[in-house]
Amino acid sequence: MVRAQRVRPCAVGTSILPGPFPVDRIRKGLARIVDERTALVTGGAGYIGSHVAWALLDAGWRVIVLDDLSTGRRELVPPAATFVEGGSGDAALLRGVLAAERRIEAVLHFAGSIVVPESVVDPLAYYRNNVVGSIELIDACLAAGVKRFVFSSTAAVYGDPDQVPIPEHAPTRPLNPYGHSKLMIEQVLKDCDHAHRLPHVALRYFNVAGADPGGRTGQATPKATHLIKVACEVAVGAREAMEIYGTDYPTPDGTCVRDYIHVSDLADAHVKALEHLMAGGSSLTLNCGYGHGFSVREVLRMVEQVAGRPLAVREGPRRAGDSPRLVAEPGALRERFSWNPRHDDLRTIVTTALAWERRRVGAERGAGRTAALS
Ligand SMILES: NC(=O)c1ccc[n+]([C@@H]2O[C@H](COP(=O)([O-])OP(=O)(O)OC[C@H]3O[C@@H](n4cnc5c(N)ncnc54)[C@H](O)[C@@H]3O)[C@@H](O)[C@H]2O)c1
Repeated sequence: MVRAQRVRPCAVGTSILPGPFPVDRIRKGLARIVDERTALVTGGAGYIGSHVAWALLDAGWRVIVLDDLSTGRRELVPPAATFVEGGSGDAALLRGVLAAERRIEAVLHFAGSIVVPESVVDPLAYYRNNVVGSIELIDACLAAGVKRFVFSSTAAVYGDPDQVPIPEHAPTRPLNPYGHSKLMIEQVLKDCDHAHRLPHVALRYFNVAGADPGGRTGQATPKATHLIKVACEVAVGAREAMEIYGTDYPTPDGTCVRDYIHVSDLADAHVKALEHLMAGGSSLTLNCGYGHGFSVREVLRMVEQVAGRPLAVREGPRRAGDSPRLVAEPGALRERFSWNPRHDDLRTIVTTALAWERRRVGAERGAGRTAALS
């Protein structure tokens, strides 16, 4: 199933056409021919992985996506990427992929199970997929000599923090099996780096939201519990109503405050993490957020403004395990990688998320198979 992607020569050929000289395309085309580097992206048919796959291709990387499509969609994988359907913990498959005809320089590991309440009721499924599966992948990487690894971790490793904004050195006290599973793999990576040298970057995402501004991909995760995604589903009529979980928190308007990071800025952080490792950089654990937060009510107001209609919202009790405020201290990411986010604006995040949701639901309705979302 693993095929080499050929670079089509048309990037250079188009220069004879009227219009501006396509320096950028030629440069990218040549970079791919002369210096094409390959990254394996597990979970690249999912929300964040597909944005990173696009960002890597934009940066001149060759991309192989490995995904079992448990929550991902084949159509989210960029057409220029090679797609392999299968589990990222499948040792035999991994051996085949990592021994393929081209050298894989790095692995970016997004594949995983991500629904916190699900992890509470079925912890073994989460430890099996997120811990056992990741260990198989790391083992296969070491066996194949792939020595650069970028890992999707989460702010859930902090649990209920004493200090907000949260620095990376804050105590880690996950409140659920999902958070524990991610923290375990952070530790496995550290130990493997110590024992075998495995330079890696663990990125602890805060609340990821929005969609590719060019509309190339977005969030299609089934059963998503992410606030902006759910609110956009309500705004486009794909979901009847939504709930605010708790209005009596010690925050200015009584609802929880979260640090929302646009998925394209997050994708850029991954490209920079990879560049850091390619340049021989050492292992890092970094927060991915903007360093400021919005309350649930502020987010819902913005969705209503952008959508131009009120949302059907019920107010309910608190959910177990929600911290009042989770906001990143993001200085290290900016300093280490010269990361300059381009979409640090709630309106932009909501506008791109809503545009994606409208297209997605419109396409599904058009195809006569509207998803049952709630
Ligand atoms: N979305 C967020 O706000 C957020 C926050 C913190 C961390 N993360 C982490 O980011 C990563 C990506 O999350 P997402 O929001 O894109 O979720 P997603 O569900 O959209 O993507 C996960 C992808 O992994 C695939 N997958 C799952 N298990 C697999 C396996 N064993 N083998 C192969 N493929 C498998 C799924 O089919 C899907 O395409 C996850 O590891 C998640 O824990 C996400």
